[in-house]
Amino acid sequence: MCGIVGYVGGKLASDIILDGLEKLEYRGYDSAGIAVQTENKIDIRKKVGRLQNLSESIQEKGIEGNLAIGHTRWATHGAPSDENSHPHYNSDMTIAVVHNGIIENYMELKKELLDKGYTFNSETDTEVIPKLLDLYEEEDFFKTIQKVLKMVRGSYALGILNVKYPDTIFCARKDSPLIVGKGEKENFIASDVPALLKYTNKVYYLENGELGIIKEDSVEFFDLDGNSVEKELHEIKWTMEQATKGGYSHFMLKEIFEQPKSIEDTLKRRISDKKEILFDDINLDIEKVKDIYIVACGTAYNAGLQGKFALQKIAKIKSDVDIASEFRYSDPFVDENSLVILVSQSGETLDTLAALRDSKAKGARTLAITNVIGSSIAREADDVIYTWAGPEIAVASTKAYTTQVTVFYMLALYFAKKKACIEEKEYNRILDNLLAVPKQVEQILAKDNEIMKMAEKMIDCQHGFFLGRGLDYSVAQEASLKMKEVSYMHTEAFASGELKHGTIALIEQDIPVLAITTQESLFEKSVSNIREVKARGAFVISITQEKNADLVKQVSDEVILIPDIDDLIAGITCVVPLQLMAYHVSTLRGLDVDKPRNLAKSVTVE
Ligand code: F6R
Repeated sequence: MCGIVGYVGGKLASDIILDGLEKLEYRGYDSAGIAVQTENKIDIRKKVGRLQNLSESIQEKGIEGNLAIGHTRWATHGAPSDENSHPHYNSDMTIAVVHNGIIENYMELKKELLDKGYTFNSETDTEVIPKLLDLYEEEDFFKTIQKVLKMVRGSYALGILNVKYPDTIFCARKDSPLIVGKGEKENFIASDVPALLKYTNKVYYLENGELGIIKEDSVEFFDLDGNSVEKELHEIKWTMEQATKGGYSHFMLKEIFEQPKSIEDTLKRRISDKKEILFDDINLDIEKVKDIYIVACGTAYNAGLQGKFALQKIAKIKSDVDIASEFRYSDPFVDENSLVILVSQSGETLDTLAALRDSKAKGARTLAITNVIGSSIAREADDVIYTWAGPEIAVASTKAYTTQVTVFYMLALYFAKKKACIEEKEYNRILDNLLAVPKQVEQILAKDNEIMKMAEKMIDCQHGFFLGRGLDYSVAQEASLKMKEVSYMHTEAFASGELKHGTIALIEQDIPVLAITTQESLFEKSVSNIREVKARGAFVISITQEKNADLVKQVSDEVILIPDIDDLIAGITCVVPLQLMAYHVSTLRGLDVDKPRNLAKSVTVE
């Protein structure tokens, strides 16, 4: 939610800021802006809309300078507009601020400032910060920052410039991510790694309540009281190639096609040559765990739905899945005998982070499944299992989902073995099926053209349904979310058996129904449900395993066949054609598939 970049060094700062913001556009793209330290003043440029608008403005009239901060916005307080864009500044433009997060007490701070005669140019919460820095400015500006940060409530990652410190970027963090990149005679700040990868792979992760003073040849860290803090320099293993489109027309397509590798990497990290699942670093006595709560948002929540199946069916542990923003307010029965699993690609989703903190406060053991090393959720959970999806840039999550589900299956097998509730033969059978997933996903991806042709039939559809029973229903939920967010088609996922209790009234001539039928034990019932919608005029596209081809073809208009795989694992593979379907409907409609309207990838507000 909003992206921040800062640069100080010998190069033209605006080039580096624009380049970095482009990598962070997935965090929000309502507007973009830049503040550059030029001779004796701060030059600020900001434009509503995509980053392209800011780039064009800078192309028309460049801004000289080797130190700058930039911002790409996802609007929270105030509509997208030039005025509400960051950076925000004081009235004589000697202080400029970019901010990611929300200042919760901004109303009372704004009132205090208005009473003192300050005027505001924007409707944002952020604007109180430069005004407060102006009001309380003292000889040592760093002390002013500490003082102001003690006055604000809420979350922030901040980049701050002051014309009196022409060689310095000040930065600070609380509950919104911020990293400092270390280069050779140049240094950086950013919300996320892809913005820096082209220039450096050495980063410091700012912790909550930490501030930084960043100059061309030094970086220093402090706490809110101004005490010096020693920090570890981390080396990022992601490559530049991973963070670019690499020949694909969109990040989403690239990331869908990366799944064989990302699933394989996730498996390889945790499965030995002797087929042992290596989770012994997870400091947990599974015998003591009476229940598991899986908590997440959006696609990560949908991965949790599959996780619940895996944990209950394989490891025989009572498991529940909750939406993070609801979990906290539902008085969950979490205690010291509970394991709370937080699933988050970014590791920064605020609702999930808050659920983690609440669960810890209740004494539960917490385990994070996340893709971003050093993210807040990774750092605050008792234990972490990383997915090895590599950077996921497209706003719609694809490879993060399949790697999260993969982790759940490994975890379920691991717990089952620890609890001695699985026979060796069954363990090996499920594991072999899991290990076959990367190859099978490759085979499914080879059907891309076939899937695109089916997508063509849905270009003009306004509504659609995804149906499934059991595990297939959880896949239907993810497939429906994918379709909605990138194609803007209104779709709903339904448990096939529930359809006749009301929803079937919506089935009319030619409405697309995507039916998933991978579960043998539910197969006949699922086929009957397909017949019911077909009889009412639906256009049915079925997704099933090859072994079911004959019967499913009889009741469907189109069929996408996935290779035969154990029913329990089929949820990982059968989502892949549906990701492709959503991608194609979106691009065939001419939409911006990587940056769907109103969305941002990293949701760091509640
Ligand atoms: C949908 C999507 C979102 C995220 C959700 C949680 O494609 O990407 O629904 O899954 O915002 O984000 P993370 O996993 O970063 O916590």
